[in-house]
Amino acid sequence: MFAVKSARNFLRPLSKSYSTMKAIQVSKTGDVSVLEYTDVKKPEINPDTILVKNLYSGVNFIDTYFRTGLYPTPLPTLLGREGSGIVEQVGQNVSGFSVGDTVAYLANNCTYAEYSLAEPKSTYKVPSGVSPDIACASLLQGLTALTLVTRSYAVKKDDTILVHAAAGGTGRLVVQLCKYYGAKVIGTTSSEEKAEIAKSVGCDHIIYYTKEDVATRVAEITNGKNVDAVFDGVGKSTFQSSFDSLKLCGTLVSFGNASGKVPPIEINILSKKNLVLLRPMLFGYISTKQEFDHYTGILFDLIAKKVLDISICGTFDLKQAGEAHTFLEARKSTGKVILKI
Ligand SMILES: NC(=O)c1ccc[n+]([C@@H]2O[C@H](COP(=O)([O-])OP(=O)(O)OC[C@H]3O[C@@H](n4cnc5c(N)ncnc54)[C@H](OP(=O)(O)O)[C@@H]3O)[C@@H](O)[C@H]2O)c1
Repeated sequence: MFAVKSARNFLRPLSKSYSTMKAIQVSKTGDVSVLEYTDVKKPEINPDTILVKNLYSGVNFIDTYFRTGLYPTPLPTLLGREGSGIVEQVGQNVSGFSVGDTVAYLANNCTYAEYSLAEPKSTYKVPSGVSPDIACASLLQGLTALTLVTRSYAVKKDDTILVHAAAGGTGRLVVQLCKYYGAKVIGTTSSEEKAEIAKSVGCDHIIYYTKEDVATRVAEITNGKNVDAVFDGVGKSTFQSSFDSLKLCGTLVSFGNASGKVPPIEINILSKKNLVLLRPMLFGYISTKQEFDHYTGILFDLIAKKVLDISICGTFDLKQAGEAHTFLEARKSTGKVILKI
């Protein structure tokens, strides 16, 4: 995980000697009304960081978890884990970046703001074939999808994979990558409109998981063989059906809580089918500069080659961060939600 201090350093009381900037600040946890559009101290460069004037900030479910307190963090805090923008200043110990570069970066709760301090180990120069909005829109969900299908469970040709929320931001990228690696994909979603989107990105079969029994339908679709792996970012409401849909020695990758946190489980439930269960976080797969650059290079290459289609389904102004959260939490996303700074 990234150091918390980088975001909190500029939440000191304002004084006339500080430059200020607009940002979204959270002083107490709760519903979207706790998102304050306000003046905070503009971050100051230090020798090991890069000061970025943000163009876009990505909105992710994890931001809602920090807002509600599901993931505790010291308050007050800013929000936002990814952004793209123009390098304004480069710390004296930093190499490989110059003033004026367009970069995309991951950071710890600080990108819903006009400026952010980025760490070089999580920052990438955006290649010319990728626009700054797409770079921002693709980074966190794209790296998540890429590491899920290569590290959590290495998807291979002729696998059958179940992807929950297949029309969502991360889900639709997981689907595209599973197809790229030669798998058959069963996607779940809640509506016909979303089913069309899930099919358009590669799902071979759709299950409406709000009205159909997922495990029964998976058994029907696979002639009783079930699936090799499940990618489940929905959490609480899908966990049991994910288990029931796996074949012997299958893998359940539980990577999110869109419907709520999965309750504690009894380890012996795995022995029934010799299952593998993972609960990965992206940041564990990109903890070094080498890893971050490796996966980001692959990601931008796949976007430039049009293997991955990044769809921005909602663009909100910074001051509309609350509307962006509501949009995501109301299951309206069919791609990426971003803030224009
Ligand atoms: N582990 C990691 O490192 C990591 C990184 C990135 C994201 N994630 C996780 O991935 C998941 C998806 O994130 P995302 O940003 O890509 O969001 P998203 O998929 O665009 O939106 C979430 C989708 O989940 C489905 N859903 C099912 N039950 C829901 C409920 N009760 N409330 C809201 N949505 C519900 C909805 O799709 P339908 O309408 O089709 O049901 C909704 O559109 C989240 O759980 C997130 O935390 C994890």
